[in-house]
Amino acid sequence: MHAIGIDIGGTKIAGALVDEDGAIVRAERVPSPAGDPREIEDAVVAMIESLSSGESVIGAGVAAAGFIDAAQSTVYYAPNINWRNEPFRDKLEARLDLPVVIENDANAAGWAEFRYGAGRLYSDMVTLTIGTGVGGAIVANDRLFRGGFGAGAEIGHLRLVPDGLPCGCGSHGCIEQYGSGRALLRIANEFADAGGVGLGLAAVRERNGALTGSDVGQLIIDGDGGALAALRQLGAALGQACASLGAVLDPQVFVFGGGVAAAGELLLDPIRTSYLDHLPARGYHPEAEFKTAELVNDAGVVGAADLARLHALSLAVG
Ligand code: BGC
Ligand code: NA
Ligand code: ZN
Repeated sequence: MHAIGIDIGGTKIAGALVDEDGAIVRAERVPSPAGDPREIEDAVVAMIESLSSGESVIGAGVAAAGFIDAAQSTVYYAPNINWRNEPFRDKLEARLDLPVVIENDANAAGWAEFRYGAGRLYSDMVTLTIGTGVGGAIVANDRLFRGGFGAGAEIGHLRLVPDGLPCGCGSHGCIEQYGSGRALLRIANEFADAGGVGLGLAAVRERNGALTGSDVGQLIIDGDGGALAALRQLGAALGQACASLGAVLDPQVFVFGGGVAAAGELLLDPIRTSYLDHLPARGYHPEAEFKTAELVNDAGVVGAADLARLHALSLAVG
């Protein structure tokens, strides 16, 4: 039986009907309503109804960018959207004739990489999703780690800098403020302000009024010195986090997804260097591999569908 995966992103809601091998049978996408829970709910209901029409579907998994409870039901807190204690699963199930699970977006994407993508050859994997925020997924001993209350693997909120920059989670100094797409934009603006190597960034900012993520992405592709230096600074921060995560979780592989991971080796190289520079007991134990995600834009929907299937099967088994 097919399962449905929905991925609520900042700019779009993506959905897919997914078969038992993780292949997408049918996909849809619509622009995201601006973060209003009711409009998002309406869009998700419409998409699930449309994807399931005429199909027999085992369940739907809905990936959202926030702290989720152990029952895979309530979004406790979404740092970058206006959701606080949002009982999203109950609201969806009241309007749909299907079992629904709510998944953390990065958990869903990481799970897809583990099952079908860059993590498939490993038992222990950490995925970092580098987009607006920094998302995390931990697979330990072939299982997705959720923590005691469901909201574990929030790697973006690992503290990197004591009393550093304020974060959308309410804390300070989180890796999200130094390693996300938004952080890359902040660093790029700092380089532009400083002049010197940031001249290309400054020129584009001058021309367009402000720098966007795609401006910085294009400058990276063009080999602009300032944009590359900003990316290296981002990678250096992420690599430090990986060294600490390595000490705790000892993964065989770190997988990087999200928009910024499109930079490929240009991002992985400074991450790896910084990881090695900060790795505890360096040289006396095996070192993790670093890869970019393989399922890229499909990871969220494929993972959410797979987790919905596992949930439905576990209900059936009792
Ligand atoms: C949120 C996570 C989410 C990540 C990526 C973070 O700010 O706390 O729940 O997975 O952003 O969207
Ligand atoms: Na997560
Ligand atoms: Zn935070």
